[in-house]
Amino acid sequence: MQNKQSLYERLGGSYRIAAIVDDFIDRMSADPRLNANPRLAAASHRDSAAGFKYLVTEMVCWATGGPQVYTGRSMAESHRHLGISEDEWNWFVDDLARTLDKFEVGERERSELFALLDRSKREVVAPPR
Ligand code: HEM
Repeated sequence: MQNKQSLYERLGGSYRIAAIVDDFIDRMSADPRLNANPRLAAASHRDSAAGFKYLVTEMVCWATGGPQVYTGRSMAESHRHLGISEDEWNWFVDDLARTLDKFEVGERERSELFALLDRSKREVVAPPR
């Protein structure tokens, strides 16, 4: 039978998405593969991660069909100064996969989430400017 619920609903709504983002951002901020890029290390540890987690939660809720509206900067604007490489993109995806394992997110939801991420890849992966 077709499940008509939005991805937002299937992920468990805002409380569960916030918990997933919380775990993921702690994981990526502690990842030595990503911290080897000094621009990434500085940006992820600038102040408390709370504001960063808030905006990413808002974006995931919005992009998956929740009632929230994303109020942060565009993906190009918030990432182009970081100079994110193809390898760094892959490590980021790997960290996310580990968080999704921990929260036992199903295959269908995972592939929909990764498809959403892929749509922004071109704006996020770029040499530093
Ligand atoms: C499609 C994939 C991605 C999405 C949806 C996403 C989402 C976001 C959002 C919503 C923000 C906050 C924007 C704002 O401050 O207005 C942000 C900032 C940031 N993102 Fe991403 N991101 C993605 C990919 C990545 C990757 C691959 C990395 C690192 C490997 C990364 C590292 C960061 C860092 C360090 C910041 C803070 C930048 C700063 O404040 O200077 N992001 N991201």
